Amino acid sequence: MMESDNGRQKILVIDDEANMCHMLSAVLKRAGYSVDTATDGQAGLQQIGREHYDFILCDIKMPVMGGMDFLRAAGARVGQSTVIMMSAYGSIDAYANVARCIRHIMALERRPDALLVSGDLTHYGTHEEYGRLRELLGTLTMPVYLIPGNHDDRGNLAESFPDHAHLQRGADALCYAIDMHPMRLIGLDTVVPGAEGGALGSRQCEWLESRLSAMPDQPTIIFMHHPPVETGIRNMDEIALDGAGVEALSRIVARHAQVKRVVCGHVHRDIHALWGATAVSVCPSAAYQARFTLGGEFEPAAGEHPAYHLHYWNGRELATHTITVPR
Ligand SMILES: [Fe+2]
Repeated sequence: MMESDNGRQKILVIDDEANMCHMLSAVLKRAGYSVDTATDGQAGLQQIGREHYDFILCDIKMPVMGGMDFLRAAGARVGQSTVIMMSAYGSIDAYANVARCIRHIMALERRPDALLVSGDLTHYGTHEEYGRLRELLGTLTMPVYLIPGNHDDRGNLAESFPDHAHLQRGADALCYAIDMHPMRLIGLDTVVPGAEGGALGSRQCEWLESRLSAMPDQPTIIFMHHPPVETGIRNMDEIALDGAGVEALSRIVARHAQVKRVVCGHVHRDIHALWGATAVSVCPSAAYQARFTLGGEFEPAAGEHPAYHLHYWNGRELATHTITVPR
């Protein structure tokens, strides 16, 4: 394999999604590569006319010139470069979708008192991704509460939000209770590092039991990443909260009638279920929805809009609205 640019191998990233280019570039540079980017196949052709690249990462779906057309037009010019075609997220720009949802929330005639973000705040858990998320969330005027999902890095998350005092750096789980709103908010960290599925350890369960026992009359929302209910979507049910976690959490919640809702993420679809004496709401994704399937692979649904839940509390009932945000 050839080496160039002061011994570093060179990579060209061709992708029309600015966020994907930025993220791949940051990750690859940190891994020691020299990285250039291009926003479509045409720009990529010009780039390989000027430089030799050891690797070319190329999106398939792009305006002006797509990945397959780039490959055909490049012909022998790709030379000894290793070309990797990418298609997993098609034309979905998750960053732009989240930004759109945030603008939508800020434009509501009555803004919510708080924003809960139920995990998978990034795709790779890098400081660069959390930095971009900070910029996005910085435009909100209400308090924001974060918990990690399986795509997050607990340590990097806590380090990236040092002003969130409840996210304790070095903690083996980011669990916390917020008592400054009409409803008590309890964030539960269900992440198992390196695994897609979730779990609740005995220390988390003891912590939750003690918090709920301390304020039995205070209406409470528990928010966490992995749902404790079977959704019927087999590929996601296989990586939901594990059986022991479901059993432990259901026993705790059954003892505390003040838990008005368990709010989750992870599935990228809008799902509600009665669960014992409470209800579970799985929030649709502000980034992109997953294609509905009861048995197939997880696949982004390019045709569905980003969305979020708005929970309305009147002191007695908690009504949940699903808000879709057109692109
Ligand atoms: Fe997830």
